[in-house]
Amino acid sequence: MSWAKWVRGAEVEPSLYAADFARLGEQVGELLDAGVRIFHFDMGDGHFVEPVTIGPVVLGSIAPLVRERGGVLDCHLMVENPDRHIPQIARAGGHSVTFHHEVTREPGRLVELARAHGLGAGLAFNPETAVADAAAAANGCDLVLCMSIHPGYSGQAFMPEALDRIRELRGRLPDDVHVQVDGGIGPENAEEVREAGANLLVAGSAVFGAEDVAGAYARLTSALS
Ligand code: DX5
Ligand code: ZN
Repeated sequence: MSWAKWVRGAEVEPSLYAADFARLGEQVGELLDAGVRIFHFDMGDGHFVEPVTIGPVVLGSIAPLVRERGGVLDCHLMVENPDRHIPQIARAGGHSVTFHHEVTREPGRLVELARAHGLGAGLAFNPETAVADAAAAANGCDLVLCMSIHPGYSGQAFMPEALDRIRELRGRLPDDVHVQVDGGIGPENAEEVREAGANLLVAGSAVFGAEDVAGAYARLTSALS
């Protein structure tokens, strides 16, 4: 199992951080029924980002359902110490980890650690980080995540300057490395983000803020095809 097999062209990844946690299993089930393959899972440690978000306990509670239905758990580590958390994500049933460029000088070592635990690997970078620096650090990664907000919370507005950064990133990476974008994506900008070169679009509030989460996912996905 690998990113090359998981991705069907362009993917909308519902961000579970924005889910209704009292109904998490139900919402995940509805989204699987609607055709979701990849779920985005945001782990924040209260240091690299202000909030403590969700972690291995919640991941472990939904992993059996997602795995049984052929889904994928793509874990965005908004943490200062990915070394500590990568093995926990693997034990809890995650499929892939994305750590931040801003927290490591040894991205290659973290990619190896992820692989040693049977995980996919990605590198994320913040709006303040130079695209060229992130792209140069992404050797061996399956994906590079261009943040289009400051990480920490769902529901923030998309930063329009991200579009140029996505274009630059796409141009700097080999063709087989996926470009992911996270933050403020919705029906009003999904197509532009795709056209700029991203094929993995994370969407939190645009999916879970809707009355009908499955319908919101379906509309976003159809805007990309
Ligand atoms: C926040 C997370 C995002 C968040 C996106 O830092 O990394 O994945 O859930 O939520 P929206 O799509 O609402 O910006
Ligand atoms: Zn995220």
